[in-house]
Amino acid sequence: LRPTIGIDIGGTKVAAGVVDAEGRVIDRAHRETPSKSKSAQVVEDTIADVVAELAARHHALAVGIGAAGFVDGTQSSVLFAPHLAWRNEPLREAVHRRTRLPVVVDNDANAAAWAECRFGAAQGESHVVCVTLGTGIGGALVLDGVLHRGRFGVAGEFGHMVIVPGGHRCECGNRGCWEQYASGNALVREARELVVNGSPVGHRIAEACEGDPRRITGPMVSELAREGDPAAVELLEDVGHWLGTGLANLAAALDPGLLVVGGGVSDVGDLMLGPARTSLRRTLTGRGFRPEAGLSRAALGNEAGLIGAADLARRERLRRRDRA
Ligand code: BGC
Ligand code: NA
Ligand code: ZN
Repeated sequence: LRPTIGIDIGGTKVAAGVVDAEGRVIDRAHRETPSKSKSAQVVEDTIADVVAELAARHHALAVGIGAAGFVDGTQSSVLFAPHLAWRNEPLREAVHRRTRLPVVVDNDANAAAWAECRFGAAQGESHVVCVTLGTGIGGALVLDGVLHRGRFGVAGEFGHMVIVPGGHRCECGNRGCWEQYASGNALVREARELVVNGSPVGHRIAEACEGDPRRITGPMVSELAREGDPAAVELLEDVGHWLGTGLANLAAALDPGLLVVGGGVSDVGDLMLGPARTSLRRTLTGRGFRPEAGLSRAALGNEAGLIGAADLARRERLRRRDRA
C-alpha cells in the first residue's frame, strides 16, 4: 500500500508529511507560509516545492491538502481565506498541474478533525465537534463518522460566529468573531496590549520580547504561563473562558457527544482547558438537566491536519478505484 502526502497550510506554517494507511507519519517537511501580501501563486509554488521534496523520497499515491480557508462544495477551490491571499483560488488544479499527482483539498480544521476521529481523541465517538486554535479558530463537525461540509462546502466556520457584537475587528472583515477572543492571535493581541500600555503586571512578557511587542508570539506567552507568570496565566484563562463560552453555544446548537480542542494554543493543556471547562459548565444551556458533552484535548498535536489531509486523499483514491 503506497503512502499519501498530507499538507497542512496554516496562517504561519506549511507542514507536510508522508502518511501510511494507519495514520503514521513516516517522513516530514516544513516551510513557512508566504505572507498574506504574497500572491496565491507563491503559496502554490511553496506547496509544489514541499511535495517535490517528499515525492523524491517516497512513491506517493496522492496529495491531500488541508487549507486554512473556505473550501467550495466540489472541494476544488478555496473561496476565501481570512489569513491568506486566496480568493476563489482553484487550488486543486494549481497543485495538480505542478505536481502531476492526484490532489484532494479540504479545510484544515476538517482535516484535523478527520484525523482525530480516525486515529486520535475522537475514535469511536459518533457526534464530534472539533475546534483548532491557531492563527484563527477552525471548526469541524463529524456525525456518524461523516464529515459535514454543508450545502456549499463551508460548514464549521465556527471561528466567525459573532460572539461579541461590535467587538474586535476580524480578518474576515466582521467585528466580534469568536476567533478574535479564543485563538493564538487573540492571545498575542492581548499580551501586546499589556506591554504597549506598560502595564506593571506585564513585566515578564515585556522582558521576554525585549520591550518589542511585535516580537511576542503565542508560544512565548504559553511558556511564561507554564513558568507561572501570573499575567500569562491570566491571558490563557481569558482565552479559556471565551473558548468555553463558544463551546457552550456549539453544544446548544449541535449536541455533540465530544468536543475536541486542538491547534497550537491547546499545547498549554489545562492552563487553558481548565478555565474552558469551567465556563462551558457555567454557560451550557439546560445544565444539570441534560447530558453534557465531554471536552478533550486533541491527541495528534500539530500533525493532525496533515494526517487527516493524507487520509482523506487516500480515501478518495480508494473510492475512485472501487468505482472504476
Ligand atoms: C478560517 C478557517 C480556518 C481557521 C483555522 C479561520 O479563520 O476561516 O477556514 O479553518 O481559521 O485555520
Ligand atoms: Na471547517
Ligand atoms: Zn471573522
